[in-house]
Amino acid sequence: MTWNRDRVVVLDFGGQYSHLIVRRCRDLGVYTELLPSDVPIEELKKATGGKSGKGKVRGIILSGSPFSVHEPDSPRCSPEIFELNIPILGICYGAQLIAYMRGGVVEEGRKGEFGRTELFFKPDSELFEGLNTGGRLNVWMSHGDVIRSLEGAEIIGYTKNSPIAAFRIPISNSHTIYAYGIQFHPEVHHTDNGDKILWNFLYRICGCERNWTMESFVRDKIEEIKRETGGSKVVCGLSGGIDSSTTAMLVSRAIGDNLTCIFIDNGLLRAGEAEEVLNTFRDRLKLKVVFVDARERFLNALRGINDAEAKRKVIGKLFIEIFEEEAKKIGADFLAQGTIYPDRIESARASSGSKASRIKSHHNVGALPAKMGLKLIEPIKELYKDEVREVAKELGIPQSIINRHPFPGPGLAARVIGEVTEEKLRICREASRIVEEELKRSGWYDRVWQAFAIVGDDLATGVLGDARSLGRIVTIRVVESVEAMTADFVKLPYEVLEDISRRITNEVRGVTWVTYAISSKPPSTIEPC
Ligand code: XMP
Repeated sequence: MTWNRDRVVVLDFGGQYSHLIVRRCRDLGVYTELLPSDVPIEELKKATGGKSGKGKVRGIILSGSPFSVHEPDSPRCSPEIFELNIPILGICYGAQLIAYMRGGVVEEGRKGEFGRTELFFKPDSELFEGLNTGGRLNVWMSHGDVIRSLEGAEIIGYTKNSPIAAFRIPISNSHTIYAYGIQFHPEVHHTDNGDKILWNFLYRICGCERNWTMESFVRDKIEEIKRETGGSKVVCGLSGGIDSSTTAMLVSRAIGDNLTCIFIDNGLLRAGEAEEVLNTFRDRLKLKVVFVDARERFLNALRGINDAEAKRKVIGKLFIEIFEEEAKKIGADFLAQGTIYPDRIESARASSGSKASRIKSHHNVGALPAKMGLKLIEPIKELYKDEVREVAKELGIPQSIINRHPFPGPGLAARVIGEVTEEKLRICREASRIVEEELKRSGWYDRVWQAFAIVGDDLATGVLGDARSLGRIVTIRVVESVEAMTADFVKLPYEVLEDISRRITNEVRGVTWVTYAISSKPPSTIEPC
């Protein structure tokens, strides 16, 4: 199931802003995809000719890269991209690569540019049309190598250190189609009017149509799901998280009662979560939800297991087992899964041997479809997290679900260090509830990525009345993050931390100490296990 409208493709040379380019183009209303730089040219040929069944590719953007074009193992793309007869825009390394592949001179970095730089540009160039800034612009630079010369190119911008900071070079005989190169990054906020430059490329130069709004996405997806499932039954594992909730709602809008959601209470949920999910989806949104109380099965299976990976495996396996039992009863042909865009990109980067490797075995039901003879539908697989939030809003999912922090598949088992026992679960659950409540009360909840409590086996001394007693140590983790790839601890005011600590030691039985985790990711991860 794929979005089948016209698109722009960003070839990923590994630059830190590759995703951001995609995001900006989508925000400007054009569906944009990230593909590996070495994507087979045949695939692009089919797509530009509109023969891939996915809509036409109207333009190609080449991303930045940590490499220099002179390094022998630097990432490349096929030179045949210049024969596809569609406009190309190279950004930073992408611009250098165009120059290099077209026979230009790219000088190895003696004096690059980093940070904000003034660009002098030709206002009558179509790339800069509508910029009424007198031919000057503050742009963001981050490059070592410099393009020195490029025969046949028209220079449309320069800076103090880059004589060719923006250029265009014809790539069709009729001089109507060009490859553009810009040494700066229009996708970052530090570049003034960066959006306008991208807008010019997408609409003025590539002639894209505005086709990417969440409203049109929902409309098209509903039709697609109807077509694809053709009256068959579909099951969907509902966790109450934003991804599975949005998937379930979208499928339900398309096929109504032919969708059955399966919600498993594994005993590792947050305080009040099971009630909230059932109340929202069954009672308010009228979805068909099968509720499975599997708390005992999970806790029994987890008994005596200390190792984090082993816990994940047990939980993943049992989850699949139960899901399979329930799905069989329903007799479905399809499984709907809430895979989102970063999940796919990360696993594609990982499987292509790039640096992004799998750190923890994030469990999902990916192994299920083949095993059970189910066909998979992944209706939100093109979306980034905040696009999912917009779709969720569009579908009427309540704000309390939309704004809820992400929660790991293995649930509180990821936050109970060592063996999962009922006592530790109780402490983790109650303390996490207090953390959430206090952050909401102080206005911090919506400003952070995740906030929760962690508990392990270590004991520390406390005084209760006159008596000394041993109790648990609860660690608070509150992080800010972009898509969870990196994270930093939040510098919460001491008063907020103090309120959290006081409430936890007063209200949660068996806790004597509260600590705050101040390590970032990397080297730590967000969840402790
Ligand atoms: P880490 O701990 O790897 O977490 O820095 C990154 C993000 O992923 C969530 N997370 C998981 N999600 N299954 C999931 O579905 C898992 O096993 C899992 N482990 C971590 C975590 O909450 C954070 O947002």
